[in-house]
Amino acid sequence: MPVSFERDIRPLFRQIDIEHMNKHKVLLDNFAYMADPSNDHGNAQAVEDSLTNQSMPPGGPYWSSEELTLYRQWKSDGYLP
Ligand code: HEM
Repeated sequence: MPVSFERDIRPLFRQIDIEHMNKHKVLLDNFAYMADPSNDHGNAQAVEDSLTNQSMPPGGPYWSSEELTLYRQWKSDGYLP
């Protein structure tokens, strides 16, 4: 089954992640923002980069390799809702 944003990815973000990042105009809970195809899917990529390099969330908890793999699978499956 392909990875779904609403079913598989969105639940990985905590409420505190969503609230803090909404203030910075990074809309972690918003499919249209996260899957925005403009700029070569730059929003999704910036989020992935921050998780991979452990700059986010500040101080952790950092995503596990399983969670990161799921996120990357969401990308390779075509950013499905
Ligand atoms: C494009 C990607 C992202 C950018 C540019 C970004 C940027 C920032 C900035 C500038 C801050 C405030 C300064 C700081 O505390 O370092 C912040 C705070 C925060 N971010 Fe992100 N962030 C991104 C992605 C994420 C993701 C993916 C998560 C969680 C999975 C996350 C969770 C948080 C949390 C929880 C805070 C508040 C930390 C605190 O005040 O204790 N951010 N982010």
